[in-house]
Amino acid sequence: MSDWIKVGETTDFGDEDVFGADANGTPVAVYRVGEDVFATHDICTHGMARLSEGFLEDGLIECPLHQGLFDVKTGEAAGAPCTEAVRIYPVKLDGEEIYVQFE
Ligand code: FES
Repeated sequence: MSDWIKVGETTDFGDEDVFGADANGTPVAVYRVGEDVFATHDICTHGMARLSEGFLEDGLIECPLHQGLFDVKTGEAAGAPCTEAVRIYPVKLDGEEIYVQFE
């Protein structure tokens, strides 16, 4: 059983922007890369930092604490000191509304 939870709207942010949302208690980071929207768990796999407070460029989110990098599309670690992937969530758009899928 999976649920789609609304986490925001595309009007909430611009290109190369990120915001944090609480999806029924799960912190998620929602990213916009061009016309595409992606979502990951908001907590870095290296330490207690919110990726939504980081810097997004070229589809990579830079963690604000130690500047590790993750690919927001795949969740793969893309720069030291991060080595463990961050969880990604499926995203769907309904007009301007952004929904993230949880198991
Ligand atoms: Fe994110 Fe260290 S807490 S890189």
